[in-house]
Amino acid sequence: MGLQLRHSLVLAGVLLAVLGAVHYRQYLVLKEDQARENAGRLKFTAEIVKNGLISLMLEGKGGESGGYIASQLTDEVSAMRLIGPDGIIRASANPSEINSIIKVSPDETRFYYSRRTGLPVSLFTPLYNGKPCQRCHGREDGTLSVLNIGLSGRENLNRLSALRTNLAVSFFASFLLLFVPFWMFYRRFVMRPLLSLSKAAGRASSGDFSVRFRDEGPGEFRTLSGGLNRAFSRFEEIRRDLETCHLDTVKKMEKMASLGELAAAVAHEIKNPLAGISGAIQVFAEDIPPNDTRREIIKEILREIDRLDQSIRNLLTFARPAALRLVKTDIIPVLERALRLISKQAEVQGVEIRMPAANSLVPVEVDPEQMQQVFLNIMLNALHSMPGGGILSIDANADDYGVRVSLTDTGMGISPDAYDNIFKPFFTTKHSGTGLGLAISKGIVERHGGSIEVDNRPGLGCTFRVIIPYQSLLNEHG
Ligand SMILES: Nc1ncnc2c1ncn2[C@@H]1O[C@H](COP(=O)(O)OP(=O)(O)OP(=O)(O)O)[C@@H](O)[C@H]1O
Ligand SMILES: [Mg+2]
Repeated sequence: MGLQLRHSLVLAGVLLAVLGAVHYRQYLVLKEDQARENAGRLKFTAEIVKNGLISLMLEGKGGESGGYIASQLTDEVSAMRLIGPDGIIRASANPSEINSIIKVSPDETRFYYSRRTGLPVSLFTPLYNGKPCQRCHGREDGTLSVLNIGLSGRENLNRLSALRTNLAVSFFASFLLLFVPFWMFYRRFVMRPLLSLSKAAGRASSGDFSVRFRDEGPGEFRTLSGGLNRAFSRFEEIRRDLETCHLDTVKKMEKMASLGELAAAVAHEIKNPLAGISGAIQVFAEDIPPNDTRREIIKEILREIDRLDQSIRNLLTFARPAALRLVKTDIIPVLERALRLISKQAEVQGVEIRMPAANSLVPVEVDPEQMQQVFLNIMLNALHSMPGGGILSIDANADDYGVRVSLTDTGMGISPDAYDNIFKPFFTTKHSGTGLGLAISKGIVERHGGSIEVDNRPGLGCTFRVIIPYQSLLNEHG
């Protein structure tokens, strides 16, 4: 059931109940008035008729009492009788009743009430043997006769039904007078804004944020629609931004993918000739006598070729990352293997390596080779940042999420200009760097479902924190 119908029914119900109660009370009050009026009319008529009868009697015209009674009938007074204390009707406006018997209580005045209307419609009142009467009737009798007056039942009914009709008309008129204006006000100022709000909300929920609420209705509605309009404009902006961002990302990914393909193809093409050149130079070197200065030049050429080879290898790793071969393993031995690879260089540079006696940690699911590559890249960067010696501290611990490995150096730290770019491919501040070490490492860790955080202290060193979740790729692959 709609809100409008529900509210209308409740309002109509309340109005009907209140107006009904008020009108019913009014009906009872008016009926009470009618009863008083009936009783008054009966008593008043009885008094007049009694006096008339006594006058007739005193004039010795008792025989005319029947005619007198009949003359007193009106539209409202429809019956009149004189009844003896024994109940025999002596005179009546309806002569056919004379001498029939009726039950009376000779000593008391009594009203009789209509069964249908509950109103007094008939009065029995005694005519006592007063002093003037005693001349003819003697002193003995208490009640000479009983006067009975009856009101017209039809007249009473007509009055009551007119009363009811009037009250019914007043009831419906006041209902309409109250309900219709309220309903129109409610429709205009509550339902219309509400319906327009819900229509617009329906459109918005199906994704159309360009929808705007009408600025109408009382203050609260205006505040609400204004607020929603602002929120929707914001949603619209955010959605547009997201779409643009998504498009940019897709474009970037496509670009990266094709660049990667190209880089991989180029690297592949260079790798083999490079190996050929290296081999050929080594053959040349064999012919050069041991103390010849050209041997030094040949060695330098071979070192550069090695570096070129390493760069190409990095480029290939970056462009075409190898598939992960996940093994459930303790991370400490992986770290130790990476450390062994740099220990010689660290010693030469005067870098002290600090790693607390390694407790084995909860095993994580990783590709040990690739993870070793990550640690190695970070360690090599640390060594590069401490050319004059320093300390490389390594710490590994586990929590509910996974394993965290922190590698802290006491080098020069990352300059604020470089900080935002260190993970970007080919970004390097080194003469001989490819700028791929951190880009490759980040890719590997992210493919494990983890991340790398950096705490930078320019001039004092920095910490790289590698976070590897226990359930590395399970979620990704379901
Ligand atoms: N521990 C560190 N201290 C100071 N700067 C760092 C550190 N690690 C990385 N950087 C900065 O981040 C840059 C990018 O590092 P990344 O490992 O990606 O490339 P690279 O070391 O320059 O070259 P590559 O690793 O390919 O030989 C570095 O050139 C350096 O400026
Ligand atoms: Mg590096």
